[in-house]
Amino acid sequence: MGRGCLVRSEKYLLILLLVKVFVKLFNYAYNPSPAAQVHGSAFLSPQPEVAADRGRPPLRLGMVGGGPGSFIGPVHRMAAELDRRFALVAGSFSSDLSKTRAGAAAYGVTSERAYAGYREMFAAERARTDGIEAVAIVTPNHLHLPIAVAALESGLHVLSDKPATATLAEALTLRDVVRRSSGLYGLTYTYTGYPMIREARRRVARGDVGRVRKAIVDYPQGWLSSPIERQGNKQAEWRVDPARSGLGGCIGDIGVHAFNLAEYVSGARVRTLLADLSSVVPHRVLDDDCNVLLRFDGGQPGVLTASQISTGERNGLTLRIYGETGGLHWSHADPTVLTLNYSDDRSEILHASSAQFGAAARLPTGHPQGFIEAFANIYSDFADAVLGARDLIGTVIPDIEAGVRSMRFVERAIESSRAGGRWLGLEDEVTA
Ligand SMILES: NC(=O)c1ccc[n+]([C@@H]2O[C@H](COP(=O)([O-])OP(=O)(O)OC[C@H]3O[C@@H](n4cnc5c(N)ncnc54)[C@H](O)[C@@H]3O)[C@@H](O)[C@H]2O)c1
Repeated sequence: MGRGCLVRSEKYLLILLLVKVFVKLFNYAYNPSPAAQVHGSAFLSPQPEVAADRGRPPLRLGMVGGGPGSFIGPVHRMAAELDRRFALVAGSFSSDLSKTRAGAAAYGVTSERAYAGYREMFAAERARTDGIEAVAIVTPNHLHLPIAVAALESGLHVLSDKPATATLAEALTLRDVVRRSSGLYGLTYTYTGYPMIREARRRVARGDVGRVRKAIVDYPQGWLSSPIERQGNKQAEWRVDPARSGLGGCIGDIGVHAFNLAEYVSGARVRTLLADLSSVVPHRVLDDDCNVLLRFDGGQPGVLTASQISTGERNGLTLRIYGETGGLHWSHADPTVLTLNYSDDRSEILHASSAQFGAAARLPTGHPQGFIEAFANIYSDFADAVLGARDLIGTVIPDIEAGVRSMRFVERAIESSRAGGRWLGLEDEVTA
């Protein structure tokens, strides 16, 4: 074979190689992996159909709180296991060991993995080859900080219920710990898991309603209209007790949901607020009704109400966002529907369907789904994050920054109200 022939075959090889690289790059750009889809355009595209861990055993989950008779622990358990992304294998479900054991039996957790305390659980699980990889925190608020810190320091991932902590100072402490940790930290702001809330966010980000001009979020409940904390209602007892609830009553319990939702969907950040909080039911120390005016970072006005004494209301969260060319409306009473109204007299009524809105919508249109599925979407995203799509934290899944912002909101609202209704900056130092 002559030298010219060799050079020619080398040239062909080089061209072949370049073509192969080009084809690979082209394929990647137009058919990114599920994880890359999540990373690249979590905001703008539907949820990926393919779970990042298909074929992998579920992640091993421990739970703190959520014992017999509790409200949100059982919801977490159902949601975590709905998509087989997590399996609940250990828990310290109550401060009372007999209740923890009863919880373990109900959840299918073996008795040896029912622990008297969360520290004991983290130490024992660490020593096992099949120890827990993540922990769900579903206790009253005052325990969120110590449990999250102990979990992160044990190398675990943390999915905590809101509010992040009982006070702003605690949230800032937790933020430092999260920043130093290898474990991930996410917050279950439930409403961010609804497919039509995600679609609303996508529509606003895409400019469908034009520049955002106003946000109204209204969260009325009526279950604390009378002093049921004095009649043995466990959920009410700790929520009206500053030692367990934190500085906020209703504002820390559901006001933070409303605040987070307004920012999550509008894409705008609250800059200042003026609050009027009340303790309507006699003898309550903490607020049970909250009326707050907001200003977002572009100067846009907002209105936020949260109330637990709105007699007869159940969990009537609604969100309205108005932009220059249209507005949108979502209601928790009918969470699979999103309505958009435009200035040119057109309206769009969108119904959640897996065909249109991807895996987060789960089912064909017309098949009701709600709270547990929304929670399960957050768990599924958290599993993706643990398995590599870390960018989901702080974009799709509310992170510790969202937790800190919510606690700033709580403390500023309390301070503003105490000052007789004064405009305060969210970032200002708290003086009250
Ligand atoms: N995301 C949501 O939509 C949502 C809804 C309800 C409650 N929450 C939040 O979830 C948390 C729990 O609320 P809940 O209504 O389920 O309260 P709950 O009173 O019904 O349950 C609290 C559970 O924590 C357990 N517990 C208390 N101290 C403990 C300890 N030291 N160790 C282990 N377990 C302990 C209790 O035994 C109980 O089982 C709160 O932070 C609340 O704000 C969130």
